[in-house]
Amino acid sequence: MKPAWNVDDLRTQAKRRLPRAIFEFIERGSENEYLARHNQDALERIRLVPHTLRDVTGRDSSIELFGRKLPIPLIIGPTGTADLLCHGGESCIATAAAKAGVPFTLATSSTTSMDRIAEIARDSGFWMQMYLWERRDLSWQIVDRAAALGAEALILTVDTPVWPNREFNKHNGMANPIKPNPTLALDFALHPWWLMRVMGRYMLTHGGLPKFANYPKEIGGSVTGPVNRITNSASVNWDDVKELRRRWPNRLILKGILNKDDAVLAVDHGVDGIVVSNHGARNFDASPASIEVLPEIVDAVANRITVIFDGGIRRGSHVLKAMAIGAHATIIGRATLYGAAAGGTEGAARALEILREEISTSMAMVGVNAMAELDRGFLR
Ligand SMILES: Cc1cc2nc3c(=O)[nH]c(=O)nc-3n(C[C@H](O)[C@H](O)[C@H](O)COP(=O)(O)O)c2cc1C
Repeated sequence: MKPAWNVDDLRTQAKRRLPRAIFEFIERGSENEYLARHNQDALERIRLVPHTLRDVTGRDSSIELFGRKLPIPLIIGPTGTADLLCHGGESCIATAAAKAGVPFTLATSSTTSMDRIAEIARDSGFWMQMYLWERRDLSWQIVDRAAALGAEALILTVDTPVWPNREFNKHNGMANPIKPNPTLALDFALHPWWLMRVMGRYMLTHGGLPKFANYPKEIGGSVTGPVNRITNSASVNWDDVKELRRRWPNRLILKGILNKDDAVLAVDHGVDGIVVSNHGARNFDASPASIEVLPEIVDAVANRITVIFDGGIRRGSHVLKAMAIGAHATIIGRATLYGAAAGGTEGAARALEILREEISTSMAMVGVNAMAELDRGFLR
């Protein structure tokens, strides 16, 4: 793969390689796409104030999370499309995460089986993500399988009651599920590298695009076939969380919390953690940047449950900002997706390596040797 010195270099390479419809599917937001820029801008507006003349030779970026030591405060978030970015993309990212000692979250809408990811991520942390569907009995099948495979944490995503308004997909001929059409065919044809190295390999190994590997058969398996899995989450409510808590034996995390009242309810329902997240700006353009609401949520619940931050992390300093506000850990989504598109396992590993180095550099610049030393006194 070509040299990459930061996550944005990986993004540029990903953009070059991928068909437009696929790059934009991972990149863009919803409606006017204000939030996609705003997640980044809000992170950048926060400044880290250096404290000088401190001996920072003993820097240690590790944290302890749910009884596991992580070398950096990062978890790979659920993103169900990585297999379209490079051949076996989900396994590539999980392998890179395992090498870096970072937990990997498999999305339910993924095309690699839970069994495979559980095997790869066993020593570094296998987390499973799910939605609750109208047919709760089908959702419980995901819960039971994840438990049987020893997933350490189950993330219930709670920010997608209906399918988001992603208009750009329609312009690009991209639908969910994917339907062959002239716009998409031309786009694919203009990207021969992807056509041969990704699509071509799937044609040889799978006879077509990979299939959803973790949906119950009643929901459907083909990424081009009839699937209706998210539009029917509208009835999900706190009683379901209660039931999920009863069924799920390990760590339970709610992802997509953006207000402190919900965070307090999460505590009341006995969950172990929340992810302060706006789904990477992909769902509701009118919602706040997740970093903007992080302080009030930390103040409300961080002494009682684990608070994880995501949304817009492209630099090590972004991780430090969230940790200084009081997050216990952070999730990345696109950073390793760009890496996987740019160079498979090596590219995803490069994304993690870049972030690890930048975290260390930022720690030195602000003058801390441990994540626990960060607090709001470092923020301007
Ligand atoms: C292509 C893509 C697919 C995603 N799919 C899911 C998903 O299935 N479930 C979920 O909870 N979050 C999903 N997310 C959101 C991520 O888990 C994460 O919250 C977000 O990407 C973080 O923002 P960042 O990409 O700026 O790091 C997805 C994100 C992307 C970019």
